[in-house]
Amino acid sequence: MQHFISVHDVTDIDALVQEGLQHKQSPFAFEHLGKHKTIGLLFFNQSLRTRLSTQRAAQNLGMNTMALNVGQDSWGLELEEGAVMDGNNAEHVKEAAAVMGKYCDILAVRAFAGLQDREKDYAETVMTQFKKYAGVPIVNLESATRHPLQSLADCITIEEYKTKARPKVVLTWAPHFKSLPQAVANSFCEWMNRRDVEFVVTHPEGYELSPDYVGNAGVIYDQNEAFAGADFIYAKNWSSYQHYGQVLTKDPSWMITKQKMDLTDNGKFMHCLPVRRNMKVTDEVLDSEQSIVVEQAGNRVWSAQAVLKRMLEELG
Ligand code: CP
Repeated sequence: MQHFISVHDVTDIDALVQEGLQHKQSPFAFEHLGKHKTIGLLFFNQSLRTRLSTQRAAQNLGMNTMALNVGQDSWGLELEEGAVMDGNNAEHVKEAAAVMGKYCDILAVRAFAGLQDREKDYAETVMTQFKKYAGVPIVNLESATRHPLQSLADCITIEEYKTKARPKVVLTWAPHFKSLPQAVANSFCEWMNRRDVEFVVTHPEGYELSPDYVGNAGVIYDQNEAFAGADFIYAKNWSSYQHYGQVLTKDPSWMITKQKMDLTDNGKFMHCLPVRRNMKVTDEVLDSEQSIVVEQAGNRVWSAQAVLKRMLEELG
């Protein structure tokens, strides 16, 4: 694996999921692989899980880690080609990425969607620029349109908790008071479309995701109907793709409650976290046996470790 930007960088998801589960059993089995190798973790946005789990995964593999909050710890980065740099950004990504590529064997980057300009966000400028100029493998720690390490952890979690060969997995929109990116939802769709699951997406009208990501998923506008018989409920808020970045509704009837979970087949509740309690999902659901959000977040380590191990093997 040279880069890990999306599901398209993975040829065999099942093998990667199994590798993640093996790392969970034996976290230090490959600690020799990363000796004298360094990963740089670059954050244009905040993080708890992604930052700590990726550091932990790299350390389990014997790597050195360096983390940088771009624009806070470092100069602000200019991303536009040919820009006249008379604004706040003192350094161009061309130099910054190339320089960081001299210090690190792998660079991992988090840069969220701005939610102002759909074309610009979906062009994935930051990831593209780092791939172009860093000269080392790039890991996506959540970009404008995707969050593949989260999705791989989600696949690992579903594999662990499924009780049927082909479980029903429902991605449901849940209310939030502000605009959030589509990255987690897009990515979850892409990965679920390549798993052996019955995959359903439910959301209010106007919250349709890009068809490029929804793929073959069944889309149901009635949340109760979608939940019927489900084995996994994956809740996430996203802002409108069509009316880009807008909050069209905060309808509290879409919040995940015990009554809705009772429609499932004793389904498990999943969320990538952080989650706003009693906005997207009730305390009762999050504090119940059905919630596996902490285990899901724990699996972020094994997801990152599976990916980094593949990259280290390629680096030699
Ligand atoms: N799920 C997730 O990516 O969490 P953080 O934003 O805290 O990294």
